[in-house]
Amino acid sequence: MPLVVLVGAQWGDEGKGKLVDHFAGEADVVVRFQGGNNAGHTLVVDDDQVIVHLIPSGILHPDKLCLIGNGVVIDPQVLCEEMDGLRARHYFDDDSRLVISTRAHLIMPYHRRLDLAAENRKGRNKIGTTGRGIGPAYSDKMARTGLRFHHLLDPERLPGLIRAMVAEKNLFLTQVLEEAPLDAEAVVEEFLGYARRLAPYAGDVSKVIEERLDQGHKVLFEGAQGTMLDIDHGTYPFVTSSNTIAGAACTGAGVGPKRIDKVIGISKAYTTRVGGGPFPTELKDEIGARLRERGKEFGATTGRPRRCGWLDIFALRYARRVNGLTEIMITKLDVLTGLDPIRICVGYRCQGRLVEEFPPDLETLERCEPTWEEMPGWQENLAGCRSLEQLPRPARDYVRRIEALTGVPVAAISVGAEREETVVLRHPFEK
Ligand code: GDP
Ligand code: IMO
Ligand code: MG
Repeated sequence: MPLVVLVGAQWGDEGKGKLVDHFAGEADVVVRFQGGNNAGHTLVVDDDQVIVHLIPSGILHPDKLCLIGNGVVIDPQVLCEEMDGLRARHYFDDDSRLVISTRAHLIMPYHRRLDLAAENRKGRNKIGTTGRGIGPAYSDKMARTGLRFHHLLDPERLPGLIRAMVAEKNLFLTQVLEEAPLDAEAVVEEFLGYARRLAPYAGDVSKVIEERLDQGHKVLFEGAQGTMLDIDHGTYPFVTSSNTIAGAACTGAGVGPKRIDKVIGISKAYTTRVGGGPFPTELKDEIGARLRERGKEFGATTGRPRRCGWLDIFALRYARRVNGLTEIMITKLDVLTGLDPIRICVGYRCQGRLVEEFPPDLETLERCEPTWEEMPGWQENLAGCRSLEQLPRPARDYVRRIEALTGVPVAAISVGAEREETVVLRHPFEK
C-alpha cells in the first residue's frame, strides 16, 4: 500500500493536518497537490502548535521528504515566511527535505488584489474567500497567462514577464475596478528576491514520486480544502478554485491513477463550513454555538468563526462516490461529549420528496431539508482513549453507525488535537 491519498470529505478543516502529521511517521514522503495558502492545517505536538498553509504536514517529522506538486498555487511571500517560521522552531533545518514543482503556478500580488476586489463587488453574494488570490491565480493558469515556479529560475526573463503581466492587470484594476495600480518595479524587485531564495527548492516532483515509489517508499498525499469545496463537485459557486477530490492527486502531482492504493476521506464527527454557501445541517442555535466553542471552530487561515452543524451523511455518501473513498477517518469525536441526543442527517427532502443524489444547483440545495436520525450521546471525556474498546458505548455506536450509513470502514478516530490523541483501527499503509 505505498500510495495513500488523504482528502477532506466535507467543506474543509476536517483535521487533515492533524491526521497527516500523525500518520507521516509511517510514511517516507508527504505531498501537497492542490490549493494554496487558503489552506490552514493545524498540527499539535507536545503542546506546540504549528499551522502550515503551503508546506506539507509531514514537515514536523525530521526525516520526511515534503513535496509541493504542480497543482498547488504558491504565494512566494507566504512560502518564505512559513519556511522562516519553521526554521526558527527547528522543524526545518535540512533544506533538502523540501522540493517544489517547477510547474506549480505562482500567486502574484495582483491576484490578491483581484480576489479582494471581486469579493467587494459581489456584496451580499460574496463567496467569503480567504482573500489569498486563489481564484485569480487559478484563472490565470487556465487562461494560460500564469507565471510558474520555473520562471523564478530565470532571473533574466523574469522582470520582463512580470512587467507585462502587471501592465495588463493594472489596466483591469484601474479601468474596470477603479482601483489603484500596482508598481511593477516594486513587484519585480520583490520577486527577484524570492527567486534567489526559492530556486534551490525547485524540482520535478512527478519524477521524485516515481523514483520513491519504485524504491518501495511510502507516499502520503495531503489534500487541502474538502470535497464539497471542489470546483466541479462542490456547492458551486461557493467553492474554491481547484479540484479538491482524490483524482486531483494525479493531475496535481503527476502520478498515474493506477498507482493510488487507498483513498481516505477525513470527516469531522459533525460538520463545519467557513465562508458563504449552502449548509443544510447548519445549527444556528445554542448547539451550534457550543460546537464552535468546544471545537474551537475558528479558521486556521483567516480566524473567522466557522459555521457548525450536525454530521451530514448524505454529503458524505456523495464524497464517497466522487473520491472513491476506501476508508474514512473521523475527527473531533471528543467535541460531541455532553451532547445528548446526537443527530445525524441521513438524507435530504425537497418539497416533500426524498432527494436521490446531491443536487448540483444552489436553488434546489437551498430548499432541501435534512431528514434525521437520533442517537444517544455520552458524557465521558474521550481524549485519553486509544482503542475502540476504551470509547464509551454510545460513541462506539455512533462510529459504527457512520460506517453502516456510508458503507465505508472507519480506519481512525481522532479524539483530540494532539498528534497522539488518535485511535487507529487500520494503519494507512496496511493492506
Ligand atoms: P485542516 O485544515 O483539515 O487541517 O483542519 P484545521 O487545522 O483547519 O482545523 C481543525 C482544527 O481542529 C484544528 O484546530 C485542530 O487542531 C483541531 N483538531 C483536529 N483533530 C481534532 C480532534 O480530534 N479533536 C479536537 N478537539 N480538535 C481537533
Ligand atoms: P483547509 O485546507 C475551509 C473556503 C473559503 C471560501 C471558499 C473559497 O484548511 O481545509 P478561496 O480563498 O479558496 O477562493 O475561498 O473556500 N476555503 C476553505 N474552507 N478550509 C480550507 O482549507 C479552505 N480553503 C478555502 O472559506 O468559502
Ligand atoms: Mg484548515
